[in-house]
Amino acid sequence: MGIINLKNIVVTFHQKDHEVTAVNDVSLEIAQGDIYGIVGYSGAGKSTLVRNINLLQMPTSGKVSVDGKDLSNLTVRELREERKKIGMIFQHFNLFDSRTIADNVGFALSNLTKAEKAKKVEELLDLVGILDKKDAFPEQLSGGQKQRVAIARALANDPKILLCDEATSALDPKTTLDVLALLKDLQQKLGLTIVIITHEMQVVKEICNQVAVMEKGRIIERGRVIDIFNNPQEPLTVDFIRTATHLDGAEEIVLANNPGDIYELIFSGSKASDPVIIELYKQYDLTASILYGNVEYIQNEPLGILLVKFDKSLGDDVKSYLDSQSVRLRKLERSAS
Ligand SMILES: Nc1ncnc2c1ncn2[C@@H]1O[C@H](COP(=O)(O)OP(=O)(O)O)[C@@H](O)[C@H]1O
Ligand SMILES: [Mg+2]
Repeated sequence: MGIINLKNIVVTFHQKDHEVTAVNDVSLEIAQGDIYGIVGYSGAGKSTLVRNINLLQMPTSGKVSVDGKDLSNLTVRELREERKKIGMIFQHFNLFDSRTIADNVGFALSNLTKAEKAKKVEELLDLVGILDKKDAFPEQLSGGQKQRVAIARALANDPKILLCDEATSALDPKTTLDVLALLKDLQQKLGLTIVIITHEMQVVKEICNQVAVMEKGRIIERGRVIDIFNNPQEPLTVDFIRTATHLDGAEEIVLANNPGDIYELIFSGSKASDPVIIELYKQYDLTASILYGNVEYIQNEPLGILLVKFDKSLGDDVKSYLDSQSVRLRKLERSAS
């Protein structure tokens, strides 16, 4: 049983003259220690779904249990205690502009003496690498530094779970990587379970071990990140992955500059591309011209992508050889224009 268990969650909203089903019968189990990505376009229902985890959003129907407790059966006071186990950060940081960094973090701390509080604030700021900014005000900090403050504040009550709603969406790519590295580091140091909502598969690729893809209030595909990248089933998942692996742009350029059939070969896990290309030549007298190549590392496992042109058409023997080597083959489509 996971640390987070959502069962048949439905959330409907009444807008002016109609109902919107923001979350439509979603069940989700997240294991202790996971960095779980929830990816989808704007409006898919991601924020509404994760707000169910700390009951910032009450489900219209369905069951939420966190750390073995059914949250719907708790008194207001018990719920407040349970919520402390769950920290949350947002796209726009939500800091108090008129308070110092130390006060922004200290604000979240309850039941401590002044001295204990000061000590805890220093520990938290040190943990996220901005102890030197303790007396500064938010406006004096960069976006990445502000998000570090928000992370320190979210961790103030030693939560077991950290929810991140588009936490890097307002940051530049380099700062995004820094913040993601910090989250991964914190996950390991503190044994946190992290849920990451994002519209960027790049973020998922960077730090998540599990991912769920959301569309129109439903989870349409889920699994280990490496498996989803290797073999996505749904067209939307394919779209997200193509963007994250930069294949989108490459495909266009290769097609524009090369007439004839172009194939995509995907090599996953331990299969290296060189021996397969050499075997095709030796066994089948087939030459592959490589037009584009890229290797991504996902959870330390390589995922290789080649775009190639063969010197003759492919027989079934070649196709079954590639299949036997777990190399996925796809002919690129030329859009009629
Ligand atoms: N408080 C609300 N009242 C009415 N409709 C809402 C509310 N919150 C979200 N929605 C609607 O629910 C759907 C999902 O929204 P949201 O969960 O914010 O998606 P995402 O985070 O994936 O962008 C959208 O159609 C949105 O307009
Ligand atoms: Mg959202």
